[in-house]
Amino acid sequence: MKKIVVEGGKKLTGEISISGAKNAILPILAASVIGANESTLFNVPNLLDVTVMEKILLSLGLNIKRMDNMMWIDSKPLSNINIPEKLVREMRSSIILMGAMLARTGEVIISYPGGCEIGPRPIDLHLKGLKELGAEIVESHGFIHAKAKELKGCEIQLDYPSVGATENIMLAATKAKGTTVIRNAAREPEIVDLQNYLNKAGAKISGAGTSVIIIEGVDKFIDVTHNTMPDRIVAGTYMIASVITGGEIVIKNIVVEHLQAIIAKLKEAGSIIYDDKNSLKVIGPKKINSIEMIQTLPYPGFPTDMQAQMMALLTIANGTSIISETVFENRFKHAEELIRMGANIKTFGRVAVIKGVKELTGAKVTAKDLRGGAALILAGLAAKGVTEVDNIYHIERGYENFHLGLESLGANIKKID
Ligand code: UD1
Repeated sequence: MKKIVVEGGKKLTGEISISGAKNAILPILAASVIGANESTLFNVPNLLDVTVMEKILLSLGLNIKRMDNMMWIDSKPLSNINIPEKLVREMRSSIILMGAMLARTGEVIISYPGGCEIGPRPIDLHLKGLKELGAEIVESHGFIHAKAKELKGCEIQLDYPSVGATENIMLAATKAKGTTVIRNAAREPEIVDLQNYLNKAGAKISGAGTSVIIIEGVDKFIDVTHNTMPDRIVAGTYMIASVITGGEIVIKNIVVEHLQAIIAKLKEAGSIIYDDKNSLKVIGPKKINSIEMIQTLPYPGFPTDMQAQMMALLTIANGTSIISETVFENRFKHAEELIRMGANIKTFGRVAVIKGVKELTGAKVTAKDLRGGAALILAGLAAKGVTEVDNIYHIERGYENFHLGLESLGANIKKID
C-alpha cells in the first residue's frame, strides 16, 4: 500500500503555485456532456477524482484527449445513458451527471453515489429540484432512473444551500424551456466558475455567487475554452503548512477573496499574512494562539473542507480551541489519528475541543478521508520524529503531488509505493 513518510521539524519556506480546483473542474467535466460540442479546458488538476470523471465520460462515448494540465473533450459522440456503478461509487460528485445528462438526452441511469465517509450525505435536494424541473425519477435496487420528455423552467427554493444540488439543477436547467430561478442557492466560488464555463458555451445564467441564480434555457451550445479557477482548499492547506512549521511561504496563483475566512482564522492564530492581490505571503508565529471558536459554514463562512487541517494546527496551539462542524454530520475521523500523535482532542457530536499540547510525536496513522489525510501530513510536518500516513489514495483524490509540493518548500517527506 502506498504511504507518505514525513519527518517533522523543518520550517517550510519558498513559493508554491496552486493548481486548478477539484470542486470546480468536476462539475465542469459533467457539464461538458450537455452541449454536443468541444470543450478545451486548461489548469485541469491531475487528481484521482478527475481521472474517475474522465473514465465516466469515456464510458458514455465521449472523445477525450489529456495532456499535462489540458483536457480536450468532444461530447458529440455520446452514446450511452448508463453511468457505470463502480465509478459512481468511487466518487460521490458523479451525481451531478444527472442534471447534465437530463439536459443532453432527457434520460440517465445512475446508482446511489459513494465518496468520503463523512456522514450520510443524502441527495434528496438534488432529486427534488430535478423533479420540479419535470424529471420523472424512479428509485429501485440502488439505482436512480431519471427521465424527462421536456424540462421546464420553474422556481426552486432549496431547503439548504447544497453545493451539489445547486450545480445539478443549474446543469439540468441550461436547456430547459423557459426560465429557472434557484433561491437559497449555494454561493461557493466553484459555482461561479461553472456559470462562467456554461455561459461561454452558450448558456444564459446569472447570479452565481449570490443566493439567487437565474437560468434562461437555450437550445444550442457552442465550442468553449475555459481556464479552471485555482483550488482555494489546496491553497488553504499550504497556508497551514507554513503556519504549523513556523515557516514563511508565498502562495501564488490564487484568488485572495476566496481565502478570506481562512486568512481571518490564521491571523487569530498569530500568523502574519501579506496580501499581494494574486499571492499571499504567510508567516507562521513562534507560538500558535488557540482559537475560541471555529464554525464551519457554507461559503463565505469557514469551509468544512479546511476543518481537519485547522484542527491539526490547533493541536499545538497555546490554549484550548473549539471547532463546531455544522455542514457534515461525521467529519472528525482525523481526530482519533491526531490523538495517536499526542494531540488532546475530545469530540462531542459535531463539536471538538482541542487542548493544545507542547508537541506532537510522529506515529503510524491512517488517512480516513481526503482532507483528514492532508491534516495528518500537516501534523507530521510539525511532529517530533517520523510520521507514516497510509491509505493515501484519499489524499491523491484532491491534492496534485502534495508530497512534491511540500518537499519543494523544504519538508523532509517522501512517498513510498
Ligand atoms: C461539496 C464539495 C465538498 C464540500 C461540500 C461543502 C464538490 C465536488 N464537493 O460537496 O468538497 O465539502 O460541498 O462545502 O464540490 N445535503 C442534504 N441533501 C442533499 C444534498 C446535501 O441533506 O440533497 C446535506 C449534506 O448531507 C451535507 C450538506 O447538505 O450535510 C452539504 O452538502 P453539499 O453542499 O451538497 O456538499 P457536496 O455538494 O456533496
